[in-house]
Amino acid sequence: MGRRLIAVAILIFTLFTICNLLAEGKGEGQGNGLHVGFYASSCPKVEDIVAEVVARFHEQEPKLPPALLRLFFHDCFVKGCDASILLDATPSGEPVEKESPANGETLGGLEVIDAIKARVEQECPQTVSCADLLAFAAREAVHLAGLPRHEVPAGRRDSKTSRATDVNFNLAAPETTLDEIIHIFAIRNLSLEDMVVLFGAHSIGEAQCTQVTDRLYKYSKDSPRDPSLDPTYADELAGKCPAPEARPAEQALRTMVEFDPTTPLDLDNQYYVNLLRGRGLLQSDQVLTTDARTGAIVYRMAASPETWSKMFLKAMIKMGRINVLTENEGEIRTNCRAYL
Ligand code: HEM
Repeated sequence: MGRRLIAVAILIFTLFTICNLLAEGKGEGQGNGLHVGFYASSCPKVEDIVAEVVARFHEQEPKLPPALLRLFFHDCFVKGCDASILLDATPSGEPVEKESPANGETLGGLEVIDAIKARVEQECPQTVSCADLLAFAAREAVHLAGLPRHEVPAGRRDSKTSRATDVNFNLAAPETTLDEIIHIFAIRNLSLEDMVVLFGAHSIGEAQCTQVTDRLYKYSKDSPRDPSLDPTYADELAGKCPAPEARPAEQALRTMVEFDPTTPLDLDNQYYVNLLRGRGLLQSDQVLTTDARTGAIVYRMAASPETWSKMFLKAMIKMGRINVLTENEGEIRTNCRAYL
């Protein structure tokens, strides 16, 4: 009787531990069928190849990290991290995600993914998905921009569909309200804190002048300039981005302004420090400080670079799990631009 009780207790304890591990795994290392070291036996060199190719391109183009990071974000938020953003065409023949105005010409890093895929196909034909290559490339981007090189759960598969119309309601724009942005993150299981922490990606990279014109010249009837902008910063921006009447529209699309002029190439918490000084580039950035739901998180991130970087890496892993295809779903493309 005593032995039977002990055996039952051990069984219950084991089941409890497994359940706990599974629950924890959903948050980070495992869950969704993704796991770290997915290609350990099928393509052991893949993560090194990605690192090597990204580093080679980065030598020629120091602005590559923001482009790769944004590419991954724009893939994950539209339909999930399934490399749908990389397709040039689909069986339905509809315009693809790449062709939507939110992506368009400002999407960078595509040729780097092509080069990675070509190299990986030589090493292990039709084994590694483009969706995983994007996730590995984003990790290298984050690392090259200064954060620790984190482990990336893998096992995603590639989708066969991609529609420009899906982009509209899934990616936010600078004028999107904070309520809507919170909703866009929440339905992807990303908390308010994950959201504010991920916005820290705007500590690298740039935006077209057109994204800030309204804040500088036609904010409201009473105030042409957004009063939440630090006046010196607003003057600096206006120097780079003249009023629409004073320059051709084409030029405003091509002129870029840095998100964080203080440390433009470093992925760091300077973004939050800037926000607290009224130096957030987009309206959707600056609003994080003024809203009661997010203001306290901004303060916390500004106060501690370590807290932010740890939380950012966790949130990146969480973002990389959004609606992934696994096992028999989707396919493994041989060319990231084309479905099989
Ligand atoms: C949801 C709210 C967000 C809005 C409204 C937003 C908006 C924008 C806009 C307008 C640009 C400039 C595009 C251009 O003019 O070329 C941009 C760039 C960028 N975004 Fe976001 N973004 C958001 C969230 C995020 C998140 C969550 C990430 C990553 C985790 C991210 C990463 C980036 C990066 C790295 C760039 C710079 C790209 C480059 O320089 O190549 N953004 N974003």
